[in-house]
Amino acid sequence: MSPFQLTRTLPADATDAALRADVLSGLTGRPKTLPPKWFYDARGSELFEEITRLPEYYPTRAEREILQERAEEIAAASGARTVIELGSGSSEKTRHLLDALPELHTYVPVDVSESALSGAAEALLAERPELSVHALVADFTGGLALPGSPGPRLVVFLGGTIGNLLPRERTTFLRSVRSLLSPGDALLLGTDLVKEEATLVAAYDDAAHVTAAFNKNVLNVVNRELGADFPLDDFDHVAVWNREERWMEMRLRARRALNVKIRELDLVVPFESGEELRTEVSAKFRQEDVREELAAAGLRLAQWWTDSADRFALSLATAV
Ligand code: SAH
Ligand code: AVI
Repeated sequence: MSPFQLTRTLPADATDAALRADVLSGLTGRPKTLPPKWFYDARGSELFEEITRLPEYYPTRAEREILQERAEEIAAASGARTVIELGSGSSEKTRHLLDALPELHTYVPVDVSESALSGAAEALLAERPELSVHALVADFTGGLALPGSPGPRLVVFLGGTIGNLLPRERTTFLRSVRSLLSPGDALLLGTDLVKEEATLVAAYDDAAHVTAAFNKNVLNVVNRELGADFPLDDFDHVAVWNREERWMEMRLRARRALNVKIRELDLVVPFESGEELRTEVSAKFRQEDVREELAAAGLRLAQWWTDSADRFALSLATAV
């Protein structure tokens, strides 16, 4: 059997139905919103990789530093034979961890982006041909049907992607992760940390405008998949720090009053001049926030590591 298997846990029409439902509820509600998972078609995944290389976007470098520094420690603490990675993207940073796990049998990357999964598996198998890679095209907020594989299991959720979920979505999500863990299994969680506003805003509003292109890509996805006519040049990228909620928000602001037709939904969405559509929140954490959210899901914060500049944290959690 080939060491690489890719399973689509949802048929394409289910993805289509989910996009329709999200666009209908998000664009008819007030304020208008769209969930961030729709950024990541093949182009969106490429743009995200470009973001990770920007001078202003520190989270990837900070998390990589921790992983390089602590991979042996994490590997020894988990002894994992199966690594399940949620929102795995390119799996680039994860390689430090996988390389530190000599007993690793199966790697299960889970992502909505099929192009990211195939690219990551190809690169990984070129280096570790003996590894069994079972990629899942799936929404990590839905119930995951994991392939059978040997324990202990380590569930990995990097990049600070947990911050892209709203607080009540995080509660449900962490409970579902907890339900995947048996005694001896663990969760490795990456969280971006609260810091000064200027650093945060620069990370989400870079000088080369790559984040702006990533943000607007969600409009490309809706135009292509649902026959909409969003005029991309009539929307501005906006990145703001919401101090009360402790999250960065990305929005798209209409430059003028306009009507957007969404053919497949038989819907016309009016925008006032200056009206904003929220496309992403990216929550930033303190150690006590992470500890509390884990505890509420039946997980115990066992280890906490930060990078040398205290910008980002990796937590190792076990089931209570
Ligand atoms: N973990 C990588 C990639 C982070 S980008 C890193 O740290 O660099 C976020 C990734 O999560 C993208 O690859 C995106 O396609 C995926 N993603 C976003 N929402 C998702 C969802 N609901 N279910 C599954 N994957 C999702
Ligand atoms: C994937 N996620 C953690 C990124 C973030 O920082 O919230 C997505 C992103 N949005 C803008 N830049 C990067």
